[in-house]
Amino acid sequence: MAARAMPERNWAEGLAGNGRASRSMERSASSKMCIFSRGTRFHTANRVLFFWSEMSLQDKFGRQITDLRISVTDRCNFRCVYCRSADPENYRDHDQILSWKELERLAKVFYELGIRKVRMTGGEPLVRSGAEEYVKYLSDLGFADLSMTTNGHLLAERCEGLMAAGLHRINISLDSLSPQKFEKITRTKSFNSVINGIDAVQKSKLGPAKVNAVMVRGINDDEVEAFAEFARDRGVIMRFIEFMPLDADRHWSRDRVVAAAEVFDRINARWPLVQIPHEKSETARKYRFADGAQGEIGLIAPVTQPFCGHCSRIRLTADGKLRTCLFSKDDHDLRAYLRDGASDGELETFIKSVVNEKEEGHHINDPGFVQPNRTMVFIGG
Ligand code: GTP
Ligand code: 5AD
Ligand code: SF4
Repeated sequence: MAARAMPERNWAEGLAGNGRASRSMERSASSKMCIFSRGTRFHTANRVLFFWSEMSLQDKFGRQITDLRISVTDRCNFRCVYCRSADPENYRDHDQILSWKELERLAKVFYELGIRKVRMTGGEPLVRSGAEEYVKYLSDLGFADLSMTTNGHLLAERCEGLMAAGLHRINISLDSLSPQKFEKITRTKSFNSVINGIDAVQKSKLGPAKVNAVMVRGINDDEVEAFAEFARDRGVIMRFIEFMPLDADRHWSRDRVVAAAEVFDRINARWPLVQIPHEKSETARKYRFADGAQGEIGLIAPVTQPFCGHCSRIRLTADGKLRTCLFSKDDHDLRAYLRDGASDGELETFIKSVVNEKEEGHHINDPGFVQPNRTMVFIGG
């Protein structure tokens, strides 16, 4: 599909975002100089600035890191084709997985470092018992945005409890509206449970649900319009995600990617779309229906329009590794520090130094791109 003009200024900028990171770094450096050059009258401002920089995580490109995705388990009750293998996979031994107590301690350290947005992921976060208690702990710590990404299988019965524990938002994967195709993709018969989970969210204060579909050419690309209709019927935020090379079977290829521009064109041809503003660091570009119908469309285009230039995310894996990018070649062993008895201060210093070296972006579109060893189920989406 040829590149098309999109009704958004940033759409065609792609990795130019990296330049934006550098420019913002220049801007913040010059504004600091400005304050410092004004002498003692601005002593208080200096102190605030110093305190703020001590408390916040920033990488060497000037990106503020405010979002943490915490994978609480590497186990999952689905085996989606774009993520896991059909063969039994070696899960980590239980002692390699961070305990809830360890996860609580790290969450507190990250809070002190200025993380304000936390998303719980897996594997599938709801298969680990204690998920609600952890949500409650995170909520009591005071994170401003507390969310979860789930496959929805256990959601209908857990929705109330998660809400009561303090969860703010929930994202649910649903890759087909056909029960037969859903079964092929997820290798489960859980279609109805997931739909019930979405319905439960829509009836609760956690709504509107964000529904994620990873689009894979030849598998579910015939369902673009049906998904848009689903958004209009149910009032959900339907998000189309470009397939990324993070699948265990290594079946990813460029021609399997359904570009967000194609999805936009197809929906827009049927139901004209109007862009909604988005936070720079958000993964999705957002649209509402021009005819005023309920529901929303989100396009997540990490392959054709990378959003790395404004990335504010880091990830903690279930086995206690800090990952600064989905596509990091290496991860950083926070668990070893933790279990060696590091103080909070030592953990903070370690995290800051790791974050400073966060990758400028992924290299999916470079000729020498090598798929990371860790697949999506072991990273957490
Ligand atoms: P919101 O805060 O609700 O917008 O959530 P989100 O989009 O950050 O979270 P979600 O778990 O729903 O992510 C949707 C998909 O976006 C993931 O499954 C990934 O495919 C993709 N994604 C999320 N974060 C990143 C990222 O940092 N880099 C890349 N390349 N893709 C990402
Ligand atoms: N490409 C894009 N998204 C993926 N996810 C899993 N594997 C991939 C992939 N290869 C998404 C799921 C879910 C989240 C946990 O990760 O759809 O939204
Ligand atoms: Fe951030 Fe890496 Fe994702 Fe780019 S690929 S948005 S840098 S996590």
